[in-house]
Amino acid sequence: MQQVTLDTIVSLAKRRGFVFQSSEIYGGLNGCWDYGPLGVELLRNLKDAWWKAMTYRDDIEGVDAAILMHPRVWEASGHVANFTDPMIDNKTSKARYRADNLIEDYIAKLEKNGKTERATAVAERLAAAREPEDFYQIIVDEEIGDPVGGTKDWTPVRYFNLMFKTFVGPVEDTNSVVYLRPETAQGIFVNFRNVLDSARQKVPFGIAQIGKAFRNEINTKYFLFRTREFEQMEMQYFIKPGTHTEQFAYWREQRHQWFLDLGMSPDMIRFKPHDKLAHYADAAVDIEFKFPFGWGEIEGIHSRTNFDLSRHEEYSGKKLEFVDTVTRDRFVPYVIETSIGASRSFMAFLCHAYNVETVGATADGGEDAERTVLKFHPKLAPVKAAVLPLVKKDGMPEFADKMYRDLQKSFNVQYDESGAVGRRYRRQDEIGTPFCMTIDGESLQDNTVTIRERDTMQQIRVSTDKVKEYILKAML
Ligand code: GAP
Repeated sequence: MQQVTLDTIVSLAKRRGFVFQSSEIYGGLNGCWDYGPLGVELLRNLKDAWWKAMTYRDDIEGVDAAILMHPRVWEASGHVANFTDPMIDNKTSKARYRADNLIEDYIAKLEKNGKTERATAVAERLAAAREPEDFYQIIVDEEIGDPVGGTKDWTPVRYFNLMFKTFVGPVEDTNSVVYLRPETAQGIFVNFRNVLDSARQKVPFGIAQIGKAFRNEINTKYFLFRTREFEQMEMQYFIKPGTHTEQFAYWREQRHQWFLDLGMSPDMIRFKPHDKLAHYADAAVDIEFKFPFGWGEIEGIHSRTNFDLSRHEEYSGKKLEFVDTVTRDRFVPYVIETSIGASRSFMAFLCHAYNVETVGATADGGEDAERTVLKFHPKLAPVKAAVLPLVKKDGMPEFADKMYRDLQKSFNVQYDESGAVGRRYRRQDEIGTPFCMTIDGESLQDNTVTIRERDTMQQIRVSTDKVKEYILKAML
């Protein structure tokens, strides 16, 4: 794994069809991205890996809740009142910022310039800031200028709710307001009773969901990192109060291991405990990835007490408790939540996979001395194998085509017969295809092919009836 710039990733993503700007022909829509032919495969594989790890077990069920929910859900969850960010505008440049981000960037600059003591003092003030005026006063006291034009003529700070509002039905009045969900978690909480009754589960058990979430972020940032439309993969694990410390530790390790099992280097991820806990949480830790722009959160593991279920009991008037039929214990379960962004971790795995290597021009028939290679775990790779006839004659294309069609029944595979074989290897390297199957004269004699492995560039000869098994084994 080597460090790469974000521009390189964005341009590779576009060039090879991983990610495009949304509505690009109209100039794009800020904070929204489209997944191209390879991106959609990578994203699906990532979601599949999560889904299998999280729900193919006895104690976790899956759901897929509607994006639009009853508006009372968001009053109960606290999002109507509290899901806000402090916003500030510069009067000269008209640029709009999250006030806390503006101060954080300023602190980073102080640290970079060796002004550690001052940075710590400002960071302490920021951690204590609650009211809009608190943020404003830091900006004024520190004489923080506009990153665009440098001027210091700021508007007051206001809190801005990040939920997108829309209306159900033809009348656009306050009675028909609904929100695009800002997290998938609430679709799980409101289905707690339904799943408990229908799936015959007992506490402890979990409910998992993958789906779109929407946040009207003040500033979108860093490609897929902070967008206005994104996907989350969330799991709420319902437990007996008093067991939350051990369950939190368990899920923290499980989730860390998931990244390692998908080939993530241990030095590229780390735990970061939260400095400030939400009022309902009694423990929270992030898993961060070392992005090209620095460490950034990709997943949060939160011990949320019984806050959500209790609030939904209160607001809906429905009992959301668990009754243990053996001990007759009756309680509103506590919850450990694991919440990962599918889009954000997609970007982490893409950055992680990127490598540029110097290789011998003749090492594996390649013509270039340098190759770009995406070292995805075979489970995540958008294309699992490429089938390449060595030359376009002597029955090789026909043989290769048959093999390609057979493999296509099980995997996303490509067929490529154009150009020197070394060039074709390089094309596959750049999209992260783990295996290239080359058909040569010998193949027609003895029904074997060479399998060229992406990372080592080693080639082995394998009987054609073993090829599928070979790929499957690598995907375990
Ligand atoms: N239910 C808890 C919850 O939503 P969060 O920390 O706000 O917690 C969880 O979000 C994850 O969702 C984050 O770790 C991140 O991966 C992803 N996420 C949040 N906001 C995002 C955004 N604007 N763009 C992309 N991903 C986002």
